[in-house]
Amino acid sequence: MIKIFVASTEDITTIRQLAYSIWPVVYADIVSREQINYMLDTRYNLQSLEEQMKKGQQFFIAKDENNSLGYAAVAPTNNPDRFKLEKLYVVPDTHKKGIGKQLLEAVEHFTIEHNGKVIELQVNRQNKAVGFYHKMQFEIEQEVDVLIGEGYYMNDYIMIKYLTK
Ligand SMILES: CC(C)(COP(=O)(O)OP(=O)(O)OC[C@H]1O[C@@H](n2cnc3c(N)ncnc32)[C@H](O)[C@@H]1OP(=O)(O)O)[C@@H](O)C(=O)NCCC(=O)NCCS
Repeated sequence: MIKIFVASTEDITTIRQLAYSIWPVVYADIVSREQINYMLDTRYNLQSLEEQMKKGQQFFIAKDENNSLGYAAVAPTNNPDRFKLEKLYVVPDTHKKGIGKQLLEAVEHFTIEHNGKVIELQVNRQNKAVGFYHKMQFEIEQEVDVLIGEGYYMNDYIMIKYLTK
């Protein structure tokens, strides 16, 4: 049975290991290997993860009896009504078993508990996850092309979900 746990700085190594195993597989067709490495190195080094947590990003980990199978993270934004789903990643072998939905539900509960009304996220326009987010009642708000450093761009949708609709 899958359970969702609130993560702390003690789980940073687990989150990092999950990211380094999931990202090269799920982004293989849409992002260059160099860009994947750059993004992992900048966002998932131990210090960066600790800083993200200290700044208020809340992480969740999905586990079965033996293994960690995915993670999600949510953070407040400058708009008190809006929270951002910063991360949502499930181990590829275990996709389509309800884990992503369970992680998203944890993020939604956290947002509602903190008086948020909207969850926003950024997702690559080529990412199959767009279909998942539509299924979870997110809608496309706008397209953005964001320079993330070293000449790398993220060609994304911003998608939003109203929690009080
Ligand atoms: C997107 C992701 C988190 C979904 O997680 P998951 O555990 O496979 O999804 P679930 O099993 O919880 O799916 C919930 C529902 O969405 C549907 N769904 C899942 N992936 C889908 C997709 N790509 N397109 C359309 N529907 C999808 C499921 O069939 C299920 O439908 P149901 O409720 O009718 O049974 C997962 O595919 C993933 O980790 N992708 C790679 C990482 C990634 O790109 N993350 C997003 C970064 S912005």
